[in-house]
Amino acid sequence: MAVRYLEENRTFVLHTKHSTYQMKVSDYDYLLHLYYGERIEDKDLSYLIKPQDRGFSPNPNEAGNDRTFSLDVFPQEFSSDGCCDFRKSSIEVKNGDGSYAFMGKVIKHKIYKGKYALEGLPALFPVEGDTVDTLEIWLQDLVTKVTVVLCYSVFEEKDIITRAVKVINQGEKTMYLNRIMSVMIDYMESAFDFIHFDGRHAMERKLTRTPVSYGVQGIGSTRGASSHQHNPFVILCDHEANEDYGDCYGFSLVYSGNFRCEVEKDQFDQTRILFGINPKGFSYQLKPGEQFTAPEVVLAYSDKGFSKLSHLYHDVYRSNLCRSPYTKMLRPIVINSWEATYFDFDDEKLLNIAKESVDMGVELFVLDDGWFGKRDNDNSGLGDWKVNTNKLRYGLTDFVNRINQLGLRFGLWIEPEMVSEDSDLYRAHPDWCLSINGRPVTRGRNQLVLDLSRRDVCDYIINSINEVIESANIEYIKWDMNRNITEAWSYVTEPEKQGEIYHRYILGLYYILDHIVLTHPDVLFVGCAGGGGRFDPGMLYYHPQIWCSDNTDAVNRLDIQYGTSFVYPISCIESHVSVCPNHQTGRTVPIETRGVVAMDGILGYELDATKLTDEEKATCRSQVKEYLKYYSLIADGDYYRLTSPYDDTRYVAWQHVSKDKKESLVSFVLTDKEFNEPQIYLKVKGLQATTLYEIEGEKGLYSGKILMKAGIPVPVIGQYESVQYHLIAKEE
Ligand code: DGJ
Repeated sequence: MAVRYLEENRTFVLHTKHSTYQMKVSDYDYLLHLYYGERIEDKDLSYLIKPQDRGFSPNPNEAGNDRTFSLDVFPQEFSSDGCCDFRKSSIEVKNGDGSYAFMGKVIKHKIYKGKYALEGLPALFPVEGDTVDTLEIWLQDLVTKVTVVLCYSVFEEKDIITRAVKVINQGEKTMYLNRIMSVMIDYMESAFDFIHFDGRHAMERKLTRTPVSYGVQGIGSTRGASSHQHNPFVILCDHEANEDYGDCYGFSLVYSGNFRCEVEKDQFDQTRILFGINPKGFSYQLKPGEQFTAPEVVLAYSDKGFSKLSHLYHDVYRSNLCRSPYTKMLRPIVINSWEATYFDFDDEKLLNIAKESVDMGVELFVLDDGWFGKRDNDNSGLGDWKVNTNKLRYGLTDFVNRINQLGLRFGLWIEPEMVSEDSDLYRAHPDWCLSINGRPVTRGRNQLVLDLSRRDVCDYIINSINEVIESANIEYIKWDMNRNITEAWSYVTEPEKQGEIYHRYILGLYYILDHIVLTHPDVLFVGCAGGGGRFDPGMLYYHPQIWCSDNTDAVNRLDIQYGTSFVYPISCIESHVSVCPNHQTGRTVPIETRGVVAMDGILGYELDATKLTDEEKATCRSQVKEYLKYYSLIADGDYYRLTSPYDDTRYVAWQHVSKDKKESLVSFVLTDKEFNEPQIYLKVKGLQATTLYEIEGEKGLYSGKILMKAGIPVPVIGQYESVQYHLIAKEE
């Protein structure tokens, strides 16, 4: 068993292959956190806690005159609130008597084989060959009987621990849950850096690294989506940690809505990290007997820097997160109509683009926004999921048939969570959107958000979208979401429960996805929220790939894809070659480099194929060929970031290595050309040191060690030009 309870010293130990996690039931039954890090033996580590009388750190009543026992000082696993601990807390409850107090004591625990279940929420699932063991620790406030169940599942071989929390009101009075963090860890030290991935629309997931310092540092989203601005993934690591070296702890929240991560360095140089649903705008009513389930956090520990941490997440997310059969399949090469036509198209124009794209090696044509309702711009039509016959004259089914006749599969864009005020849906049901009765609505992209906390609204979406999907031979759906939530208020909810709407929206979204995505396993669903505004594990549970960003500029994409790769597998990142000058930045980058960058993900195209020269089309054709040749390396291999966009290098390089280390693809883009520049030697990673490799197309064999230590001399190339090396093992 990967989970053990050591009865003699009341210690819980979780072991993965390379990590250990330890907790202890202390005097008076509080649960202390003792260790998380490199795998160690089953030794009780409570010797690390040296009780002292600490001024102004209170002592629980049971401790009597013992002034050395303080929950304000001891490292805890799930903090109390309102009593004894002044640090940021795991929970905040408003009890039936109006008090804000919670003191959880261990009342029981359970250890069992398999994974815990989280009702209505996406979570990792075991697959064949996995050993998964689960520990549940039940804490109870003995006065109010509010009970918290801490859930831990250990994916031993995959070096992953998942955590989640359930709160049950076992008392006799209605209470409110105002804050519940899915994970809390108290480290007994503070020599950490805090890494998170922030950004903005069309420039997502830029890496930010700051030393942990006194007080509270935090990131999060209050936008009703995980957001472009912050991603629900963070790392705590040694100050010296880099790609290959150092202790790193990853925290990845499987949730698509408001979230909050806080890191607090306390008065005694200890570090507390908390991660869960954002308490802002959250207040959940629990009547006696009712339960709340908080989303899962996936924890990984690496003793060898960020590359190893990324490999752990990539492996587990590829195999244990996404439900789509496409996760393990070669994805089709798509051409998307958005940057080619925006809203200005008819069937003829689209068919011409599709026809031209066949020659480029494209396999699937995606019709983006504008095909339905009254949708000639983004001011109207959302909610009316009926084909616009001014544009597709003979209807959707006929149009799809004609695409199929060209030898192409067909994909369609939808934005089911939204409604335009200028739509039949809004005219019929003005109360179906999130807005506060009597208060003017806030618009975003001139649209409103449907109230997914309502089952009738969810069912309308399920029926209307399923009808569209089943009306034609649709094999790909791009699921978009183009504004954030404001006025999270529902017309059908009592005032005391309006604090539940943000979370109930996400539960409604997952319910809809269960009934649309999971009931169409043959359709490839692709996530999107104005690009990467909801690039999170919750959405990856449904969508095996996500449109990474609305920014298709290859040079900006280097940064965006770099940040994304820290936790999300490359096979989840949809990336397209678009035209130059680029529509977002005006930059011109050679089409070859645009292909190299798009290949650092799921390659596709987003341009008007009728406007390409024969030469450009030939380049696309060979890009597709190359990409298909490297597909399994890219989709299933180990990923190495060879440079960081934040380093003082004039280039960006990355590498895919097959799991057996017999093959590798190295990609290099020159981002800052200088005249008469120094020679660049590209030192690769992840090869077998003693194996001899051929660099395809070049003479000679080089050992893995030589390629990793001496490197490959990169030829002189121009600004934004690129080089790829295919390394093939020849001799052991
Ligand atoms: C935002 C998406 O990210 C784009 O690719 C495109 O689908 C537009 N929405 C359409 O409105």
